[in-house]
Amino acid sequence: MTQDELKQAVANAALEYILPHLEQNMIIGIGTGSTANFFIDALAKVKDRFDGAVASSEASAERLKKHGIPVYDLNSISEMRFYIDGADESNEHLHLIKGGGAALTREKIVAAVAQEFVCIADESKLVDVLGQFPLPVEVIPMARSHVAREIVKLGGDPAYREGVVTDNGNVILDVWNMSIVDPKGLETALNQITGVVTNGLFALRPADVLLLGTSEGVKTIK
Ligand code: 5RP
Repeated sequence: MTQDELKQAVANAALEYILPHLEQNMIIGIGTGSTANFFIDALAKVKDRFDGAVASSEASAERLKKHGIPVYDLNSISEMRFYIDGADESNEHLHLIKGGGAALTREKIVAAVAQEFVCIADESKLVDVLGQFPLPVEVIPMARSHVAREIVKLGGDPAYREGVVTDNGNVILDVWNMSIVDPKGLETALNQITGVVTNGLFALRPADVLLLGTSEGVKTIK
């Protein structure tokens, strides 16, 4: 199977996963990226069975609206049953690296509100140790050089993602060459650096379930 076929399979599996729980007044949290896009397109088929969505990026909001799915401001929502999103890497504990699409901050906020974070990914994303994929860090623009120097002290090699401005008006540093054996510790340490908005480690709030697309079918990892 191609990577896109695996992404389509996990998007379908995520729809099956949430289908029995859908209610007319339900708001669903939606992530960002190509796997999340497959899910949005699948979700559109049952759009009459729930109220609407909160999106983790302007791009996903646009896609939802094109399908006629109402998009709500997170501040108008008091509870959210599910958040469905992809990942750049996951370990067996469902600690994730996210932010390849630069949407990490809003993704982390929406995930924080959701009762259940359903992560959807193809099998290439499952790793023993996080860090092969460069870890994205969202930074206030004027703090970019300061944050980069502090990241070097933590053992990483930060690279400025040129030409990218996040939906929040900030910049991204991608941190290379870190073997992340303590994801919670590194997530906390990075967030202590003045000027960091957030980082792409989702370990303090990991996924609750990973639907992993493999050539033998979709595996459910909890
Ligand atoms: C965006 C993300 C995405 O979930 C992550 O980059 C995976 O993307 P894709 O589904 O396209 O492989 O974190 O900020």
